[in-house]
Amino acid sequence: MAEDRQALDRAIAAARVVMCVGPGGVGKTSTSAALALHAAATGRRVIVLTIDPARRLANALGLPEIGNEERVISKLAFEAAGLPVPKGRLTAMMLDIKRTWDETVLRHHPDPERREQLLNNRFYQTLSTALAGSQEYMAMEKLHELSARRHDPLDLIILDTPPSTNALDFLEAPSKMIDALDNDATRWLLEPYTARGRVTARLFDAGSSLVIRTLGRFTGVEVLQELAELLSCFQGMFEGFRQRARSVRTTLADERTIFLVISAPRPGPLAEARAFRDRLAADHFRVGALILNRAHVDPFGASPPVSIDRIREVISAKGGETSLADRLSSAADLAHRLAKAEASAAAALGREVHLPVVLVPELDRDVHDLKGLEDLRRGLFGSL
Ligand SMILES: Nc1ncnc2c1ncn2[C@@H]1O[C@H](COP(=O)(O)OP(=O)(O)OP(=O)(O)O)[C@@H](O)[C@H]1O
Ligand SMILES: [Mg+2]
Repeated sequence: MAEDRQALDRAIAAARVVMCVGPGGVGKTSTSAALALHAAATGRRVIVLTIDPARRLANALGLPEIGNEERVISKLAFEAAGLPVPKGRLTAMMLDIKRTWDETVLRHHPDPERREQLLNNRFYQTLSTALAGSQEYMAMEKLHELSARRHDPLDLIILDTPPSTNALDFLEAPSKMIDALDNDATRWLLEPYTARGRVTARLFDAGSSLVIRTLGRFTGVEVLQELAELLSCFQGMFEGFRQRARSVRTTLADERTIFLVISAPRPGPLAEARAFRDRLAADHFRVGALILNRAHVDPFGASPPVSIDRIREVISAKGGETSLADRLSSAADLAHRLAKAEASAAAALGREVHLPVVLVPELDRDVHDLKGLEDLRRGLFGSL
């Protein structure tokens, strides 16, 4: 296992982008931050980009909050936690979907008038929640922006992925998002045609369009007109969307981008980890390692469990009861067996997929501060 931890360390050291993926609730956000802490300790300028709407990461990093702007974890925060100040720089950012949409529109819309119209459109206002894949797409826009940044360049970007079982959807998010806004039906509706002597989009010509009249009966003509305005305002942005999506795809396929599959060493999550790895491998993405978090710790280390007779002896010497010795012994034995089973499942998985598999122990408390992140970092890399 020590070799697997070293392999993970080397993979992080060589990477420019690390994507943390895996099933819900396994520790993706905490692990992303612990990896960032590790990279900063080795002298790199690293950002952890999270999509976690819970404020857990902000708390763990000792920040009152994290927003769409990069926040530096200060020297003081490390000193206050009694931890060594990293040689590099650790920053964090929480993706705010609405603001990233706004920034994308402001930065990339070619037409100032339509840009304003778009930003004020009622549908646009709810786009971030209404459009499937919007969150994942915006993560890709942000990744593009950060990796293309010329001023104050970053050595490493660690991307935490959303709490969803379909987190891998973000790989397809750019094309899905573009399809949703720019498909044949949209083009047909927006296609200019001549009605009563003037050129108008089909959808705009609310008076004469059968589609509008029929749909309008259910939704109201105004709503449809606003939708049409939204779609029409997006015209002119699609080429940019496509270009950046292509560039993100190149970044994701780059040899300095690695995916880490985070999961847990139990049957269900192990199967999910395998599925994530298979899907990534099928798409030719580089998987750097599998991280199995919250593993049981063997109370006996490498040595066999202490016999029940020995436990009885010690307890009765202290005036304790035999039943207490029995219960303690079986609890210790159970923990030993669980830890052993998890270690052998991890080893079997590693042999099967030919990848480093790192077991990270269950900590005795939640990861809610810098100290907790440092404990998790040690769990990941041991005494490296
Ligand atoms: N090794 C560990 N030991 C103890 N607690 C842990 C460990 N790793 C993570 N946790 C705790 O588990 C909870 C879930 O962790 P986290 O938020 O990082 O998971 P996640 O995969 O990002 O979840 P989601 O899919 O909801 O985004 C948190 O309360 C965190 O503190
Ligand atoms: Mg999370």
